[in-house]
Amino acid sequence: TVSNQPYRTAFHFQPPTNWMNDPNGPMYYKGVYHLFYQYNPYSAIWGNITWAHSISYDLVDWIHLEHALSPTEPYEANGCWSGSATILLDEKPAILYTGANSKNQQFQNLALPKNKSDPLLKEWIKSPQNPLIAPVDDIEPLNFRDPTTAWLGPDRLWRVIVGGEIGGRGVAILYHSEDFVNWTRSKSPLHTSNETGMWECPDFYPVSINGSNGLDTSVQDGLIKHVLKASFNDNDHYVLGSYIPGTDTYSVETNFLSNGSDMRYDYGKFYASKSFYDSNKKRRILWGWIKESDSEADDTTKGWSGLQSIPRSILLGESGRQLVQWPIKELEKLRTKQVSFDDVNLKSGSVLEVPGITAAQADIEISFRLSGLKEAEEMNVSWIDPRLLCEENEALGRGAVGPFGLLVLASKDLTEQTAVYFRVFRKQYDKYVVLMCSDQSRSSLREGLDKTTYGAFVDVDPLREMISLRSLIDHSIVESFGGDGKACITARVYPKMAINQEAHLYAFNNGSMDVRISRLSAWSMKRAQVVPIQKRRKPP
Ligand code: FRU
Repeated sequence: TVSNQPYRTAFHFQPPTNWMNDPNGPMYYKGVYHLFYQYNPYSAIWGNITWAHSISYDLVDWIHLEHALSPTEPYEANGCWSGSATILLDEKPAILYTGANSKNQQFQNLALPKNKSDPLLKEWIKSPQNPLIAPVDDIEPLNFRDPTTAWLGPDRLWRVIVGGEIGGRGVAILYHSEDFVNWTRSKSPLHTSNETGMWECPDFYPVSINGSNGLDTSVQDGLIKHVLKASFNDNDHYVLGSYIPGTDTYSVETNFLSNGSDMRYDYGKFYASKSFYDSNKKRRILWGWIKESDSEADDTTKGWSGLQSIPRSILLGESGRQLVQWPIKELEKLRTKQVSFDDVNLKSGSVLEVPGITAAQADIEISFRLSGLKEAEEMNVSWIDPRLLCEENEALGRGAVGPFGLLVLASKDLTEQTAVYFRVFRKQYDKYVVLMCSDQSRSSLREGLDKTTYGAFVDVDPLREMISLRSLIDHSIVESFGGDGKACITARVYPKMAINQEAHLYAFNNGSMDVRISRLSAWSMKRAQVVPIQKRRKPP
């Protein structure tokens, strides 16, 4: 019930009980959206990894189906680990996934639907040729996993990359195949980096340079760039580059973890994500695993662990230098009671309550217009880590332009609050830097939680543009999108008092300069509909 489960969400995807990690094999097939995910059927701690399976017609309401893949074979004795779906030329979907054997050595495997005319794709058959790709030669057997969606080259050969670590470097190992069963390793990897260790869950796909549509993974020409994402150090990092399919060369514009351009999908909690092309609405959609910040003991007590992010549509931003993300449009069908106001001055040092909505289950959009930027504090060139800057300039601290933003999941007396806010610094005489922070340090009176503060720079020019923020608040998750999706920060919080009807929402300004709220709209959110597993009826 709601009263003993204050941290369960109302509109984020989560299984009824137990452990969930990575999203797997998302796809749109015959009118149905599919999501598989890493799941432990027996407990709220990682183990016995199985591919659980759910379907949806709008990515908001879900129907849970029976598990698609369970560990039954020796090559996957320790679990059916992450992988991806590819729609083959005969329109048949295929899953490539990693099996870990009893020694945790990793192999890539194929599964095909038993009946491809069933849009629900309920039953999956593992290929008798499995395992298809074994960790041979210089490949480290314990660091070889998570095949991507495959793409088709001009030579009609399929390409797939598998994440790995070779000689202490993160690597995207490339394979080719004509028939999706026999795979040959390419002489060189698609990409590698000596700045990182193991790459988990790589993703590789094209984005359009000035179009507003997403692209199928196999699109190779036109005005496009290619994104390579890798999961390491607890974050999903990406680079942009140009890919030449004939030679499989990928030249990147920046490097992973390079100073000043460490690009991440999300600067908070967001890991092992996967994107897919939605041919229905011509967009690319991103799913990411949002783990708990709570202790394992508490996960066991509450009986579950892990959420999926709200699916986000993902595009190359106007600057061409970074991606932008936005919650899928369909989510707005859950918006119900709305409170809004226009053009309100948010005085220096003030806190303004936004009353009348269910603040523990809400969608908020706010935009700020700034004047008095001349007063902004000078940016120091040595301030390169936005997270550290947020930690040092906490929400309760005073600044000149900012901190201003939202206090979410806050108790009436503000002793509990999660602050999502901005601060503006001056770089040169008329160039400014916008810092976005999510400060969890006061999110709960409970102890033993990870309350790390997160931060990101947002590429907006506050002299000419408004600074916007959208936050999706769902009991124990706050997903924030700054600058129309240019910087995303997701946080998990577990308030003790600010739960359900006791949660409040405020706008605040702790800067010495006033700021103007150009517009604020906040909605109570309805609960998404979830249909539990329908047990197959036994024949009479
Ligand atoms: C990422 C990951 C993957 C692996 C899976 C196992 O979270 O470690 O690399 O395939 O989880 O559940």
